[in-house]
Amino acid sequence: MNPINHHPQRLLVTGGAGFIGANFAHYWLHHHPEQRVVVLDALTYAGNRSSLDGISDHPGFRFVHGDINHADLVEEVMREERIDTLVHFAAESHVDRSILGPDAFLQTNILGTHSLLKVARRLWLEQRITEHHRFHHVSTDEVYGSLTADDPPFSETTAYAPNSPYSASKAASDHLVRAYHHTYGLQVTTSNCSNNYGPYQFPEKLIPLVLLNILYAKPLPIYGDGSNIRDWLYVDDHVRGIERCIYRGSSGEVYNIGGENEWNNRDIVHLLCDELTALFAAEPTLAERFPDSPARSGEARELIRYVKDRPGHDQRYAIDARKSREVLGYAPAESFASGLRRTIRWYLDHEVWWQAVMDGSYQQWMATQYGVAASS
Ligand code: NAD
Ligand code: TYD
Repeated sequence: MNPINHHPQRLLVTGGAGFIGANFAHYWLHHHPEQRVVVLDALTYAGNRSSLDGISDHPGFRFVHGDINHADLVEEVMREERIDTLVHFAAESHVDRSILGPDAFLQTNILGTHSLLKVARRLWLEQRITEHHRFHHVSTDEVYGSLTADDPPFSETTAYAPNSPYSASKAASDHLVRAYHHTYGLQVTTSNCSNNYGPYQFPEKLIPLVLLNILYAKPLPIYGDGSNIRDWLYVDDHVRGIERCIYRGSSGEVYNIGGENEWNNRDIVHLLCDELTALFAAEPTLAERFPDSPARSGEARELIRYVKDRPGHDQRYAIDARKSREVLGYAPAESFASGLRRTIRWYLDHEVWWQAVMDGSYQQWMATQYGVAASS
């Protein structure tokens, strides 16, 4: 395993009110309570202040409401807090939204990342406000494009071939981060991770959408024939991988993080139907809370609807995690069975959270995308 290459003390976490960023902030203050965590988030439809409940009164925590494109604000916060580590999650992250409206993706994912890089260069390389620094960029395996069933999984040297406006914008940001290292000497690491699932995920993404729709007897939309494959990783395992990159990653390096856990969409939806059915059988109070759910009678799969495919839908993603395993000593802690059980339990125990995020804009998105009213 690599020696420790960087000791973070004062972190700026962009996008920390989103799904993975919020899990990261909770994890970090739990495992590194002596460190400073400043979350900067624009609170778009995907960001929720309530996802940070529980750490908001931690003495090491601060929340700043703002856009990563606002360089003056970012500079002021970084200087005031003497930030030595920037962990960059903020992004537009939903492929379907990028197909309907790519502009916001270019604005945040490309220009916003570049704005952060410029501030980082000014403060860390020119003004030297801290002795050491690190810019960790959180990216996705989608930059590598799509695999056929027989292709080897994506490694760090796989050529970029992004297919959606989302993945193209993330690919552009990866290149900018790389260029700031090579040209200016900014200390950077990048992680490219597979599909995450877990607490605080906005219910437009497959797993929480299906879970909540089973509870409310709404259709379960499967795009195309449901044969598309993703590699699923429990969110805390992604967070642990980022932690390894920050401490043990070498500047200028890229690390792929994944679960070696490939599932097609059809099987995932079936699995979620079966898991909820088993839970309803074991816990009679669920039938009282969700009286319309077909999970009461073992008929959840009846809700499945095969719908029009996503344009340009990537067939398969898979990660070759050899480098992060061998160099960073990284391995996921959760199996898919244990991670899904935790996730289902979290959603059942946090109805207040998901009721609150299903606001008017969410309802509008569901109606545009699926032509059906959302769960409520
Ligand atoms: P998310 O959509 O749940 O959260 C994004 C957060 O960024 C939100 O809190 C939002 O308010 C904030 N944000 C958006 N635009 C902003 C701006 N201009 N300024 C400040 N904040 C802004 O996304 P996520 O699923 O948590 O993904 C986080 C990162 O991880 C992204 O960069 C994504 O590309 C990457 N990633 C996600 C996955 C996944 O499966 N979700 C997998 C691999 C990589
Ligand atoms: P998603 O959660 O949107 O992640 P990504 O597109 O970044 O992989 O989708 C995961 C897979 O599930 C993807 O192949 C698209 C598919 N999908 C459906 O079949 N139905 C749905 O309603 C959604 C949201 C996704």
